[in-house]
Amino acid sequence: MNTDYQKVIEANIALHSKMSDDYSTCEPHFRPENVNNVEQKLKPLFEQTQAKKLLDLGCGTGFVINIAKKYVSTIHGVDVTQAMMDKVDKSGNATIELFNHDTGSFPVQSGAYDMVTAYSFLHHLYDITPTLNTAFNALKEGGIFYADLDPNYYFWEGVNKLDREGSYDEIVKREIEMVTYKDEDIEKNFGVDKDIFNSAEYGKNIKGGFRAEDLEANLKAIGFKKVTFFYHWFIGQGKLINDETFTKEERFKYADVTNVYLQKALPLSKNLFKYIGFIAQK
Ligand SMILES: C[S@@+](CC[C@H](N)C(=O)[O-])C[C@H]1O[C@@H](n2cnc3c(N)ncnc32)[C@H](O)[C@@H]1O
Repeated sequence: MNTDYQKVIEANIALHSKMSDDYSTCEPHFRPENVNNVEQKLKPLFEQTQAKKLLDLGCGTGFVINIAKKYVSTIHGVDVTQAMMDKVDKSGNATIELFNHDTGSFPVQSGAYDMVTAYSFLHHLYDITPTLNTAFNALKEGGIFYADLDPNYYFWEGVNKLDREGSYDEIVKREIEMVTYKDEDIEKNFGVDKDIFNSAEYGKNIKGGFRAEDLEANLKAIGFKKVTFFYHWFIGQGKLINDETFTKEERFKYADVTNVYLQKALPLSKNLFKYIGFIAQK
């Protein structure tokens, strides 16, 4: 195996072994609003594929597993960090099996799954192609691969160009810290060396995120027939949702309306959205 590929896996194990205790409480994607959003995305996909069996790639502490176990009977999770998988809650009716393995070389049973998921995961890989191949091989004909919460290249590119000392609004300054200097924050709060963090998030911190056009070409070359992209989390959305000059109802309504209009303005507005996701059908 290529040594850079292996180094990124080792950085991931080092980073996530340190984060595993706090992961499900500290990471914003575990907030109930986001769990609800992801459930609303997954529900129609489970119905469309009449899903019984799901493969979750880079399953971590079980973010997708916790949602999916209400809808499917068998879930297989794959992850390289044992400390993360040790936190997975296996309660409930679904049979949950976990595999400590690299997703790119995972010996998957061909055509055995109705759905494959990869949440906040693809940007942790040195090279996504072997893992996209795993997803494709795992799926039955017509099966769905859902990937989400990966960095949007156009947002990262815009923010990375800005000056940390520049005079911008708070919403822009915050993104400069979160996008360009997150490694300093992780070093301070989790004692993880900056280089390890940057290597563990290779697709984000080294490659600068994903472009829909590159992902589409990659997925189609592998054999996926139809790919749909979506963008979410516009700049300032967090500030607006927490803005106490408005009532709670107003804040959420304004955030929804802003989102609807920015979505209408795609592709012109694409650099304003932090994250990209896709649904690919075999
Ligand atoms: C940001 S976490 C996401 C976990 C979970 N999907 C979630 O949404 O909370 C990324 C996970 O990918 C795992 N990972 C990184 N590289 C991997 C690889 N090559 N194969 C399998 N898992 C990997 C890490 O150990 C970590 O648990």
